[in-house]
Amino acid sequence: MKNKNYILVGLQWGDEGKGKIVDMLSRNFDVVARYQGGANAGHTIIIDGKKTVLHLIPSGIFTENIICIIGNGTVIDPDALINEIELLEKDGIKLENRLFISKDAHIILPYHKIIDAINESKSDKIGTTKKGIGPSYYDKYARRGIKFSDFENRTVLKEKISKNLDYLLGIFPDSDELKSLDAQKLYEELSANYAGVEKYFVQTQYMINKLVSEGKNVLLEGAQGALLDVDFGTYPYITSSNPTSGGACTGTGIPPTKINGVIGIVKAYTTRVGEGPFPTELFDETGKKIAEIGVEFGATTGRPRRCGWLDLVALKYAVVINGVTELALTKSDVLDSFEEIKLCTHYELNGEIIDTFPSNPFVLDYVNPVYKSFKGWMTELKGKTAYNDLSENFRGYVEFIENYIGVPVKYVSTGPARSDIIIK
Ligand code: GDP
Ligand code: IMO
Ligand code: MG
Repeated sequence: MKNKNYILVGLQWGDEGKGKIVDMLSRNFDVVARYQGGANAGHTIIIDGKKTVLHLIPSGIFTENIICIIGNGTVIDPDALINEIELLEKDGIKLENRLFISKDAHIILPYHKIIDAINESKSDKIGTTKKGIGPSYYDKYARRGIKFSDFENRTVLKEKISKNLDYLLGIFPDSDELKSLDAQKLYEELSANYAGVEKYFVQTQYMINKLVSEGKNVLLEGAQGALLDVDFGTYPYITSSNPTSGGACTGTGIPPTKINGVIGIVKAYTTRVGEGPFPTELFDETGKKIAEIGVEFGATTGRPRRCGWLDLVALKYAVVINGVTELALTKSDVLDSFEEIKLCTHYELNGEIIDTFPSNPFVLDYVNPVYKSFKGWMTELKGKTAYNDLSENFRGYVEFIENYIGVPVKYVSTGPARSDIIIK
């Protein structure tokens, strides 16, 4: 795998098991970089029975000698960053000279979280993680956002905080929480936080390109998933960034010409947290059983995840817009005890059969999934190490997915631990 740079993306509505797969693949890479999102992500890694949930720091951090980069496309809450650094250091993970963070990443300030909560208190809420992600990104695009590089001119930084606070008070004049904020205090708290982590901040766009030119292998770790993408997802029920593969270049500075492949992560069924359309959602005992066995609770917010069958119409859409070259199939073991397993192959919309994904949520609400039924494998996948030792029913299921999507499944994850993996 010499000088190979891969993007790893979630192909559904997040929580596909990206953290586990990034950790497992990290041994083949020198650098792992996050390119978008922030602490809305929760990437779970289980090594030797010890579970860690990472929100900002790349999931390669547990692999010795790997450099981890948090790219310019992310939005960073300094409190969340410091908590995570402390958590890892307590576990004996050394971060100095291993963790590098972009000075061009935007800062999530306390007022971003307040606005997120105000928006979420309305009836037309999105069901966000309330981590201030959307409000921080809209400041970025409105060109009033604050980056870590703003620490290079503290007078301007102070003015920016003050101006932004005034602006927000004009929009939300009734918010007692916003009114209780003081620009000088915000600046002082931010400065104190930054002082503790300043050593990690560099112009990562230069660094990552230098590493690539030296022949290092880079894995770009997406957060969220394709169907939450601000451009391609089920807008407005999305996150405010581009988790799709294109975002990996703008979010790190690696040019598209240096990318060798895209690994897509897909769960053997579908989950979604928050509001928004979900054609294959199950409201019956089967859905409950998936949620129970799959322990489907959000890694960041603890909210129950909505569950349903795997949707191949949506998956094919995600594969196309990401240019996926290989798939990692996760959590099939959750379906071990299901006598019947279904895959959605088409939608029925106003009497017509379609195989394209209408990203408009109002249209998606009206589609009826058309299913193909499979006989369950009814055996335990966990513990198996060779693909050919897996049951014929399971291999038939995988083959159907591969043929439908036109991309090979290269990894089959058979449990949450690092070692629960079969490489096909
Ligand atoms: P991410 O956000 O994509 O990294 O995924 P999360 O960590 O939010 O959610 C995935 C959950 O499934 C975590 O609890 C993982 O430990 C777990 N997990 C990952 N892969 C597998 C698998 O193949 N089988 C089972 N049973 N659990 C898995
Ligand atoms: P990982 O990386 C699942 C969802 C939220 C909400 C919408 C917008 O762990 O897969 P936001 O706080 O981003 O403005 O919320 O996006 N969401 C996720 N769902 N996994 C995630 O991350 C998510 N990050 C955001 O539930 O519906
Ligand atoms: Mg997650």
